[in-house]
Amino acid sequence: FIYWILTLVIGYTAGSIPFGLLLARATGQGDIRKIGSGNIGATNVLRTGRKDIAALTLILDAAKAGLTGWFVQNWLGVPFGYAAAAAALIGHCYPIWLGFKGGKGVATFFGGLFALVWPVGLVAAGVWLFTAFISKYSSLGALIACVVCTIVAIVFLPQGAGVMVGVMSAVIIWRHRENIDRLRRGVETKIGQKG
Ligand code: G3P
Repeated sequence: FIYWILTLVIGYTAGSIPFGLLLARATGQGDIRKIGSGNIGATNVLRTGRKDIAALTLILDAAKAGLTGWFVQNWLGVPFGYAAAAAALIGHCYPIWLGFKGGKGVATFFGGLFALVWPVGLVAAGVWLFTAFISKYSSLGALIACVVCTIVAIVFLPQGAGVMVGVMSAVIIWRHRENIDRLRRGVETKIGQKG
């Protein structure tokens, strides 16, 4: 039991580090929550015009879940790895340091998938890249990737893993409520566009 608690604490703590916010602040871009969509993720960091810190945000947000998931999986086993990645996602979306107002979890989810079950991670990245390239909407890429990954995980992975991927996807889709509304109304901001 203590290992479950430890896993959740490690995952949540790692996930709750808001790299986008920290990098934007450190490079003099100000408070990322006051720019564009107000989100702390890489897509919004790109709206500062700084591709370098946007890329770094993507890598670090993915790595915080990926490394934690990988480390815990090797230490305690596969179910713990999934729990750590899910806890990192919750930490990213609901960080205690930011009054539980965090990001949308896309990079964090992808990083966790790559570490735990890399073929599904590849599917996620592929679907996101394809959709985002065609539509220029980062959010749409994320939403479709979540749906596809859930289907792939339920069909091909053991039941527990399928359920975990489904739950993580549901959290991400929930965090995209405003994006879904903007997509419906045709006013979602495209990648790289200041909004
Ligand atoms: O990674 C989050 C992305 O899907 C949407 O970000 O800033 O356009 O709301 P944003």
